Amino acid sequence: LLFTDNILVEVMTMILADEGLYAAIEAGLRKHMPLSDFSGADRLNQAMQYAVFPGGKRLRPVLTILAANLIDGNQTGLIAAASAVEFVHASSLIIDDLPSMDNAPIRRSKAAVHLVYGEDIALLAAVALLNAAYGLFAKAPGLVEEAVECIGVTGMIGGQTVDLSCTKVPLHGFVLRNRKTSALMRLTLTAGALSCGASLREVLALARAGELIGESYQAYDDYVDANAQSRDIGKPAGQDRRHERPSALAVLGCDYVEHNANLLNQAQRALEDQFGSIEAVSIIMN
Ligand code: IPE
Ligand code: IPE
Ligand code: MG
Ligand code: MG
Ligand code: MG
Repeated sequence: LLFTDNILVEVMTMILADEGLYAAIEAGLRKHMPLSDFSGADRLNQAMQYAVFPGGKRLRPVLTILAANLIDGNQTGLIAAASAVEFVHASSLIIDDLPSMDNAPIRRSKAAVHLVYGEDIALLAAVALLNAAYGLFAKAPGLVEEAVECIGVTGMIGGQTVDLSCTKVPLHGFVLRNRKTSALMRLTLTAGALSCGASLREVLALARAGELIGESYQAYDDYVDANAQSRDIGKPAGQDRRHERPSALAVLGCDYVEHNANLLNQAQRALEDQFGSIEAVSIIMN
């Protein structure tokens, strides 16, 4: 009943089974990486590469591709959109680990970007990745507007702000705090749809499912933060308690499992209402 029992195992199995998909994502990230040719920008370039490669689970670009596979459209711009979403994610993690935020020394089993390259370069690398992402989103009609809503004050940045600033929050604050992840997960799915010309109804269904999947994914991340060992998750465990963050465990307690199953069921329903019980939906949800 953990998140892993639903989507992650399925997605990871798919990546491992489909070398082509994984290779396409890695090639897209290399191709679109915004490297500077200024002399003196070596450390900026190295910091961006360090933040993106070898990377983590690559869950978001895989989901972008799975979402696009629900749409009957032209996939020429799909890998660019999937790369952009992963750049936003990498950018958010660089910032999230900074001393002024979670003050986390380890990310993906390596030293955090700011500890290797300094806070100055880490911040510039994060902004450069975000900037490149917007350049890629601009290639698909409607995707910049969607990115602004999902990344900005109404989405990831707003959610991260609530996460940083409120400790013992009521459920309302908890939902807003989860937008740090749910809004980017919405963009993960809608980017796939918009990059291949989906209809408004299709985009809306994927937006709804993405928010629910993201809410569930953050609850899973909170669960892991409270229960796993640092060496197994490649980042410090127990961060939410240390910072008194409104995690799923703190707010929901033992309702966590039911809460997560409920979110994923609702996401599945949103997708099936639009796309039917087709195989691509079951790959996303299973
Ligand atoms: C970590 O995301 C931060 C959250 C939003 C929960 P992931 O667990 O997907 O990070 P990586 O990319 O696999 O390292
Ligand atoms: C990160 O949330 C969300 C964003 C980066 C916007 P967390 O702080 O829970 O992520 P981890 O646990 O450090 O990966
Ligand atoms: Mg954080
Ligand atoms: Mg963190
Ligand atoms: Mg966390």
